[in-house]
Amino acid sequence: MLCPPGGNPRTPRHLISAADLTRDDAVLILDTAEEMARVADRPIKKLPTLRGRTVVNLFFEDSTRTRISFEAAAKRLSADVINFSAKGSSVSKGESLKDTALTLEAMGADAVVIRHGASGAPYRLATSGWIDSAVVNAGDGTHEHPTQALLDAFTMRRRLVGADAGLGRDLEGRRITIVGDILHSRVARSNVHLLATLGAHVTLVAPPTLVPVGVDRWPCEVSYSLDAVLPKSDAVMMLRVQRERMNAAYFPTEREYSRRYGLDGERMAKMPGHAIVMHPGPMVRGMEITAQVADSDRCTAVEQVANGVSTRMAVLYLLLGGSETALPSAAARTEENNA
Ligand code: NCD
Repeated sequence: MLCPPGGNPRTPRHLISAADLTRDDAVLILDTAEEMARVADRPIKKLPTLRGRTVVNLFFEDSTRTRISFEAAAKRLSADVINFSAKGSSVSKGESLKDTALTLEAMGADAVVIRHGASGAPYRLATSGWIDSAVVNAGDGTHEHPTQALLDAFTMRRRLVGADAGLGRDLEGRRITIVGDILHSRVARSNVHLLATLGAHVTLVAPPTLVPVGVDRWPCEVSYSLDAVLPKSDAVMMLRVQRERMNAAYFPTEREYSRRYGLDGERMAKMPGHAIVMHPGPMVRGMEITAQVADSDRCTAVEQVANGVSTRMAVLYLLLGGSETALPSAAARTEENNA
């Protein structure tokens, strides 16, 4: 999956799905992200690695964190960044994905980071032959959001194992609980795949109406009782109810949902002392999470955003510029020698 242009031509150079990542791929990204995080601690947070490369952020759906995170990541690697959002572009005049892609290709994009409401749009872009650039899925419909799963794994590794975790086996046996609107959540799908690849045990907790058909084939367990699962969790990931993707009533009232599936201080107290609360954002305080929990030390939501930049730097670096051995310090030296 992750192979820079000029690498093995038979290996695709895209990141479409967390399910495509081998354990080695995932560990390479997480270890590279750890190196990238060190750059964020420097007074000048920039590496010259992608100088002269162009990254296009192609966003057909609303986004706060993911778009600015990819933008910050590309800029910290010295790439040129073009932000393209469907609102205010010719897409709102009816332009197709194909014509939009051809425009980007004409502008010389080296990577296209795409968020789209249709599941499969990034795959279509990557396999259509319309463009020659690397494609990174930044969330497609209810399908996948692989960089979110990677930044979540990075956060769990740091909080539950430590930054200098040994290679590979670090999330092995950890118990991760994902709670809420699983049916519409690309974050849940990507996390289930990646966490299973990394050897963690995943339990999904949701009202029966928000559990997808076919979940029995996913590498995880399903429970309908949050209270029963909390004491056995190392991390509890709360999900937003994705109203924008709902065309029916999936639960009686918001109050009833919060009562059964929301995380408040009392419930959080049932978690083991070391366990963390995660949320990909945006949080709806009072619905799936109370303000008390969101603002507590155990909640990693803000940390996840910071870790997102390091993780996306790692992904862009590995797709566009890096080789397996060239971690940032070595890459920076090579750039200097070539300058
Ligand atoms: C998520 C998304 O867009 O899939 N957010 C994110 O990328 N941080 C989850 C959500 O919108 O609830």
